[in-house]
Amino acid sequence: MASRDLWTSRLGFILASAGAAVGLGAIWKFPYMAGTNGGSAFIIPYILFCFTLGMFLLLAEMVIGRAGRAASINSMIRVGRSKFWGIFGTIGIATGFLILTFYSTIGGWCVAYAVDAAMGNGIITDLSELGTHFNNFASDPVLGIFYQIVFMVMTAGVVIFGVQAGIERLAKYLMPTLFILMIVLIIRGLTLPGAWQGVEFMFSFNWEDFNADSLFNAMGFCFFSLSVGAGTLIVYASYLSEDANLPHSTAWVAFLGILAALLGGLMVMPPVFAFGLEPTAGPGLTFVTMPAVFAHMPFGAFFAVLFYVCLIVAAITSSVSIFEAVVAAMGDLHISRRTAVPVAFISIMVIGVFCTMSFGPLADFKIFGKTVFDLLDYLTSNVGMPLTALGLAIISAWVNWPETRKQLTVSCSLSPAMLTAIRLGIGIVSPIVIITVVARSI
Ligand code: ALA
Repeated sequence: MASRDLWTSRLGFILASAGAAVGLGAIWKFPYMAGTNGGSAFIIPYILFCFTLGMFLLLAEMVIGRAGRAASINSMIRVGRSKFWGIFGTIGIATGFLILTFYSTIGGWCVAYAVDAAMGNGIITDLSELGTHFNNFASDPVLGIFYQIVFMVMTAGVVIFGVQAGIERLAKYLMPTLFILMIVLIIRGLTLPGAWQGVEFMFSFNWEDFNADSLFNAMGFCFFSLSVGAGTLIVYASYLSEDANLPHSTAWVAFLGILAALLGGLMVMPPVFAFGLEPTAGPGLTFVTMPAVFAHMPFGAFFAVLFYVCLIVAAITSSVSIFEAVVAAMGDLHISRRTAVPVAFISIMVIGVFCTMSFGPLADFKIFGKTVFDLLDYLTSNVGMPLTALGLAIISAWVNWPETRKQLTVSCSLSPAMLTAIRLGIGIVSPIVIITVVARSI
């Protein structure tokens, strides 16, 4: 096995992995999913899924990455001791690749809105004007693709420097910055009169809104928000030292991922309620409703810039992790990083432009009733990630449990009962839940 770049510290690994998890999911997707799925009826199941399914699968992914010491395809083949398991690794890489094609569209929007806010544009109270502004911007393929390229250049520019000088250094600066910015914005929002209704909307349980859809959406979002099954954490764990404590690291990553989503909700919902705006605006919540929120606040333009910078920071640490998963898989084929980065960049952009154009010239081009953007978003969260996770669960709990047990107990003493509980969680509970989600999605 060729020698691999390793994280310089366990903190670097935890911050980079938390950065992989905390992304547009937490700040863009979580508030609007919560808003359109009945608030707490979505949030409470989401938290429960993360602490059970999410944590078990994160652990399985890290076990396989550190034991396999390669990107997802080779790691799953090595730990599963059969080429068959490479199919699941391939689904993982394809899923990550496809996530980036649409993720970069939204990443580009965040860059555009940050630039706009910094120039003092678009912070107005008139929602219909904001809606028109957003639709005009999103449907303009030239602007959309331009900002998508800017976002992808930023991502590729980090990955080209490798694990220590690129990814770890970025995470060490940006993750603490992200949490500080979020807390500043939350304090600002919560101190507005009427903001508390937003907190109630998030946390007071309402049986009437609870239905199968909110439950399934919460599961799909659990995969997306923790980045389980996109090949990213396998690769990050493959750069981890032999003596790092995996259960401990996993708990930190899951905790930070869930915390960031809740903070993302607390950043958006309280001010939306305080100004009597609609929490059910859908994906436009961040780009239509939030500028109106800032227009109502003293020093709104300043807070708007902070908010969109937050989104860029969160998005970039996640897109970097997915890009690295793709580049590392090419590295396993002996393609150098300097070649893999531009090749991956161009390949992602070739499909990515169709995602961006889904909001403009291709808005009426539908496959199974969905635009290219919506279809890829749906398939990756509800099919690709769960399927890859199913492979991870079977390999780690059944095909090679001795290796999993060995990885779990490095620098960590777990009782036999605890090990059995983890094995059942990964090998029985997770597959049952995954099969239910995938069957429902298909
Ligand atoms: N986990 C990443 C996010 O939530 C993909 O944005």
